[in-house]
Amino acid sequence: KNMLTWQRTGFHFQPEKNWMNDPNGPMYYNGFYHFFYQYNQKGAVWGNLVWGHAVSEDMVHWTHLPLAMVSDQWYDQNGVWSGSATLLPDGQVVMLYTGISNESAQLQNLAYPANLSDPLLIDWVKYPGNPIIDPPKGIDKEDFRDPTTAWRTSEGKWRITIGSKAGRTGLAFVYETEDFKTYRLLPELLHSASETGMWECIDFFPVSINSENGLDTSANGEEVKHVMKVSVQDDQRDYYVIGTYDEAANTWSPDNPAGIWIQYDYGKFYASKTFYDQKKGRRILWGWISESDSEKADLLKGWASVQSIPRTLLLDQKTGTHLLQWPVEEIEGLRLHGKEFNNIKVDAGAVIPLDVASSSQADVVAEFEVDKAALAAAELVADQEFSCADSGGAAQRGYLGPFGLLVLADLSRSEQTSMHFYISKTSGGNLKTSFCTDQSRSSEANDVNKEIYGSFVPVLEGEKLSMRILVDHSIVEGFAQGGRTCITSRVYPTRAIYQNAHIFLFNNATNASVLASVKMWPMSSTTIHPNSD
Ligand code: FRU
Repeated sequence: KNMLTWQRTGFHFQPEKNWMNDPNGPMYYNGFYHFFYQYNQKGAVWGNLVWGHAVSEDMVHWTHLPLAMVSDQWYDQNGVWSGSATLLPDGQVVMLYTGISNESAQLQNLAYPANLSDPLLIDWVKYPGNPIIDPPKGIDKEDFRDPTTAWRTSEGKWRITIGSKAGRTGLAFVYETEDFKTYRLLPELLHSASETGMWECIDFFPVSINSENGLDTSANGEEVKHVMKVSVQDDQRDYYVIGTYDEAANTWSPDNPAGIWIQYDYGKFYASKTFYDQKKGRRILWGWISESDSEKADLLKGWASVQSIPRTLLLDQKTGTHLLQWPVEEIEGLRLHGKEFNNIKVDAGAVIPLDVASSSQADVVAEFEVDKAALAAAELVADQEFSCADSGGAAQRGYLGPFGLLVLADLSRSEQTSMHFYISKTSGGNLKTSFCTDQSRSSEANDVNKEIYGSFVPVLEGEKLSMRILVDHSIVEGFAQGGRTCITSRVYPTRAIYQNAHIFLFNNATNASVLASVKMWPMSSTTIHPNSD
């Protein structure tokens, strides 16, 4: 019997078994959302990568299909690596991906559906003229990968960007094409940054500055900002910057010249990719969530990695500096009987259990109001250098925090995972709020990551503090202030599982009480579960 069956998720995307990594080529086409992913058919560790494929009508319930592409050509003999889809105005589908050749060179290739009238797009054809792009001169053949979705210029040509590095400088090459078969390397780089190392899985897309709608990848103009996302291989983290694209000059530059790089997520979330969902007029973000247990444990359970719940992505018009990430609305269809707890006073030092059946599969929304007098007296706060990672986590006692929720907690709280706020004061005298997850007590196992994650979250005048948490056995995804700051963690409770997983409100502030309101829904399951025999 597999002892680790409870780590399997109930409503996150995962194949039935084996290793998965990056999301590839997500798109909506002819009635179905398609999702492809890096997949190792041969085991629960990274390697032998090919493209898995699944379809869905709602991005919640998935049907797993045969592999879309395997290593069957000299130019992808050592791997069918990451890539992206482009939908052409005439209805054609273009898939670009990186093949790892028989000589380990990273070569870009073109593929397309064999039969566009098959609604499931099961069979894929590799273009006979592959590879279509070789590594540029002076670039190491192993540092050139992950073509993006193409965007169309005002002249009607298509451009893609591909990540690379030169020395320690990460960079984004741009290619132009008219037919997706022949390409011209443009002389300019879209962007580059010193000391960042290899840029993987670049994503480059427009966001609207004045509407809640997502934009087609080719949209451009006055009312548009362009987001550049880079997966920094050395950090295994995804950073984005909001900026401006100059099509004529073929460059993109950050709005903030200091080029502050924000993380999509301050926990586990990598190699992400967006696509424009033309069915609902929104941009959707997918991200790969790896394990943070040992490889031995992955081999034992026979699988590794899940995908994040797809997130709707928007520019936050209120801050202008952040994107908003929010679980797609379809996920709310999984909510079962909800329970509400309104205006619960959580005194300094208190821990309050919430009377719910189980929180091992749950959607939780919570709002917190900090006692006004304590906030006003916050000049007493000395910890202006506060950072989640360097703090004492949920157990710390600060003037204005931490306070929040404990999920995947057993009744004795020998195991618990916190998601909390901590308010500190900057040297300029402003209050600064951090959103953190403390995994230090998440599991009694000792072969798992127990870091404290988190970051600053912008809170505007008059806003309550709010968080949403999706809990799914071994994954906890947290969204603060409508998704300005997000944290995903993989946790491996040994006791706080199934009906022994509870949820608590806590407040470890020394001086401030908080008023909390919580809504909690158990979630039904969608994904394939392996046999537990
Ligand atoms: C990112 C990445 C990509 C590559 C793929 C290989 O996680 O390293 O750069 O295409 O994974 O699986």
